[in-house]
Amino acid sequence: MESLENLLCKMLVLHIYFLLLTFSFCSCSSDTISIDKTLRDGELLVSKSKTFALGFFTPGKSASRYVGIWYYNLPIQTVVWVANRDAPINDTSGILSIDPNGNLVIHHNHSTIPIWSTDVSFPQSQRNSTNAVIAKLSDIANLVLMINNTKTVIWESFDHPTDTLLPYLKIGFNRKTNQSWFLQSWKTDDDPGKGAFTVEFSTIGKPQLFMYNHNLPWWRAGHWNGELFAGVPNMKRDMETFNVSFVEDENSVAISYNMFDKSVIARKVVNQSGFFQIFTWGNEKNQWNRFYSEPTDQCDNYGTCGSNSNCDPFNFDDFKCTCLLGFEPKFPRDWYESRDGSGGCVRKKGASICGNGEGFIKVVSVKVADISGAVAIDGLSLEECEKECLRNCSCTAYAVADVRNGGSGCLAWHGDLMDIQKLSSDQGQDLFLRVDKVELANYNKKSKGALDKKRLAAILVASIVAIVILLSCVNYMWKKKTKDKMMRQINHDSSVEENGAPNNRHPNLPFFSFKTIMTATKNCDHKNKLGQGGFGSVYKGCLVNGQEIAVKRLSRDSGQGKVEFKNEITLLVKLQHRNLVRLLGCCFEKEERMLVYEYLPNKSLDFFIFDQNQRSSLDWVKRFEIICGIARGVLYLHQDSRLKIIHRDLKASNVLLDAAMNPKISDFGMARIFGEDEIQARTKRVVGTYGYMSPEYAMEGRYSTKSDVFSYGVLLLEIIAGKRNTHCEIGRDSPNLIGHVWTLWTEERALDIVDPALNQSYPLDIVLRCIQIGLLCVQENAINRPSMLEIVFMLCNETPLCPPQKPAFYSMATMNCKNHQHQDLQ
Ligand SMILES: *[C@@H]1O[C@H](CO)[C@@H](O)[C@H](O)[C@H]1NC(C)=O
Ligand SMILES: *[C@@H]1O[C@H](CO)[C@@H](O)[C@H](O)[C@H]1NC(C)=O
Ligand SMILES: *[C@@H]1O[C@H](CO)[C@@H](O)[C@H](O)[C@H]1NC(C)=O
Ligand SMILES: *[C@@H]1O[C@H](CO)[C@@H](O)[C@H](O)[C@H]1NC(C)=O
Ligand SMILES: *[C@@H]1O[C@H](CO)[C@@H](O)[C@H](O)[C@H]1NC(C)=O
Ligand SMILES: *[C@@H]1O[C@H](CO)[C@@H](O)[C@H](O)[C@H]1NC(C)=O
Ligand SMILES: *[C@@H]1O[C@H](CO)[C@@H](O)[C@H](O)[C@H]1NC(C)=O
Ligand SMILES: *[C@@H]1O[C@H](CO)[C@@H](O)[C@H](O)[C@H]1NC(C)=O
Repeated sequence: MESLENLLCKMLVLHIYFLLLTFSFCSCSSDTISIDKTLRDGELLVSKSKTFALGFFTPGKSASRYVGIWYYNLPIQTVVWVANRDAPINDTSGILSIDPNGNLVIHHNHSTIPIWSTDVSFPQSQRNSTNAVIAKLSDIANLVLMINNTKTVIWESFDHPTDTLLPYLKIGFNRKTNQSWFLQSWKTDDDPGKGAFTVEFSTIGKPQLFMYNHNLPWWRAGHWNGELFAGVPNMKRDMETFNVSFVEDENSVAISYNMFDKSVIARKVVNQSGFFQIFTWGNEKNQWNRFYSEPTDQCDNYGTCGSNSNCDPFNFDDFKCTCLLGFEPKFPRDWYESRDGSGGCVRKKGASICGNGEGFIKVVSVKVADISGAVAIDGLSLEECEKECLRNCSCTAYAVADVRNGGSGCLAWHGDLMDIQKLSSDQGQDLFLRVDKVELANYNKKSKGALDKKRLAAILVASIVAIVILLSCVNYMWKKKTKDKMMRQINHDSSVEENGAPNNRHPNLPFFSFKTIMTATKNCDHKNKLGQGGFGSVYKGCLVNGQEIAVKRLSRDSGQGKVEFKNEITLLVKLQHRNLVRLLGCCFEKEERMLVYEYLPNKSLDFFIFDQNQRSSLDWVKRFEIICGIARGVLYLHQDSRLKIIHRDLKASNVLLDAAMNPKISDFGMARIFGEDEIQARTKRVVGTYGYMSPEYAMEGRYSTKSDVFSYGVLLLEIIAGKRNTHCEIGRDSPNLIGHVWTLWTEERALDIVDPALNQSYPLDIVLRCIQIGLLCVQENAINRPSMLEIVFMLCNETPLCPPQKPAFYSMATMNCKNHQHQDLQ
């Protein structure tokens, strides 16, 4: 018996040994193919530092096999290059090898006829028995066919990109040989064959980067203006992450990039529906994060408004086109009735722009017109450029070619102007448009008027400032005590209010027209009013399709810019979580700003937990669900969504309840979006609600995810106690609920705070645990507060918790029992 067991044991060991052997054999994959070392289907070529792999793969639902390169160390197979993209293999007998002519070929096991070949004529003169040809996969995903001993490159995959622009790979063209490097989309997810969309440089005139759809312009990134492509203002943000280099000389034009931080994995892809997308790999969530994609909106599509027009994506009307000054719609009927701008505009009848008093007006901040037909002259100043343009009657507009150092070089357009688009003020370039004498006179009159108005405004501002200074001096004399506080305010004057909104533009912005909203809410009928907050009123509405909505009409002085507002909405619309109120869209017209939310039939949490009669309808089980739901919602905001968002105004009245009493966090009016590595920001404009604000935020304007944690802690304790934090109780020596809980905690009587409406029916240990978590959340020092992730974990698991220290219960005048709830600070 024993010997049999021993035998079995030995066999097992042997088996494991062989297994290990096989594994170690497998992991020793080579990075080279040579005449006598082929690559069969199922085998892998792995680059030296194990970043990329090459082998046979099957895309999507396809039945065919292709040879491709993908990331070796990522859990999702992401193919970045395909060899035989238009020559699939129908079975698994494919072999990649080097043929006797020195070409890299793919063929079936049973045949020598190549299905795909590198097709290079390998110089016979260089070949002899010692001159072996090898193919090597490099660490930047370049498959290089070369002569082994001289390292002479015969062919490389970087010269034949597919749909992906990797770091170090270039796109461009060689002026001498006409060789061109460009991206071409796959046909479908299942077919890597050559698809409809290409990204490449135009070769006529000054090079511009284009996306073509079946060789027709689809999106124009434009020319390189010294800093970036004129039509991709988003690139400005890239420049910190991507080390972009653009080369343009008599020999070639090329663009390439690499990563400043070499540990960041990035790729740029043209996809089969005509989008140029930029992705980076997110290690935390093991997925690709989209940086952004182009084209972003209707105006980005080439020719949306035809020629001699300006497409304005910020025009919230459905129709984005306006004719340039001095032009009128070519097909007025299409233009005005069908709202189809593609016919473009023509110069108004009777206008003379040749030697008849004409001049130039400034079209501010645009993506300048397509320069395919324009003349580029280096070294001219803007004045010389104007003179040059004025001299030639066919010249219709001019602009600087290189925006660096205040601008240099001259671009002069002749004939029609195509593909002009309005960009936001800091992103566009000015275009000088030739207009006749009448338009010029009108324009000058108007701009003079505007100037006068500006002057008037300046005088007004100056006098107001003077008055303010005077008043504050008086104030200073009278209230010397408040000086410190004021100083603090001035010192905290920082620009974080703006830092949240990435300059991103997106298609399909969920905009509702003013009319739609007015119809839905019956002109904001008082009867439909659901509530009133510091930032505006909320109305109930019903869309034509029957969907119920809640419309928040922001007060007019919310102080946020048009573009920032729009960006923020676009980002927030993407947030989707069970415990967040869905923002459906917004309306932005003239002075009006409205947010459209899903409508929830039950009221907010405060209506239940602080109400004498409603309190008992929420038993412990429900309350615990609400506590957990809110935590998950905030966790999503903090780290699970694509953005990092600080809510800044978590409170009971901002937690709405759906029909099944599930909590949904609402009101992102004060939310701030943080960059991924941003930890803390400061504001001089402290907005929020007394009782929920962390000390560092209330006193110094510093906010972070930990300030939300503080508010969450207050809310948690409020839910358990059924009382507001600011609730004052005669005969209690603590200024607020937190203080009271702490006193009871130290006396080991914490359960005394539990809402009597729960009728003693709750699990003591869990409630005690929740109280402890609540106390941990409201610690004075932000560092001592747990993160939202830890909170969710603590709520769901019974791991031991840290003992809380004395929490922050700063009291601002709460001593005299004033009721501060719902008061917004400015
Ligand atoms: C696959 O294609 C080869 C020729 O390229 C052909 O000989 C073979 O019959 C095909 N096999 C299948 C299963 O279609
Ligand atoms: C390929 O062909 C060789 C001989 O021609 C044969 O020994 C081998 O099993 C074949 N391999 C496959 C995968 O079909
Ligand atoms: C092969 O060619 C290389 C140079 O191309 C030469 O140096 C070498 O001597 C040649 N070897 C033989 C065996 O001809
Ligand atoms: C290529 O050259 C290296 C040395 O330079 C040598 O070790 C290797 O065996 C060669 N490979 C082939 C396939 O000839
Ligand atoms: C490159 O293209 C241009 C115009 O298409 C042509 O004139 C020129 O001969 C070409 N050069 C080469 C080397 O093919
Ligand atoms: C940026 O890229 C260029 C080549 O394109 C390279 O020479 C340079 O070292 C790179 N800079 C950094 C900081 O990576
Ligand atoms: C292409 O990219 C756009 C924008 O990122 C995306 O909406 C679309 O789904 C993508 N298409 C495919 C087929 O992946
Ligand atoms: C005006 O410019 C056009 C386009 O560059 C050119 O063809 C034409 O010769 C110029 N005319 C004069 C008078 O310079």
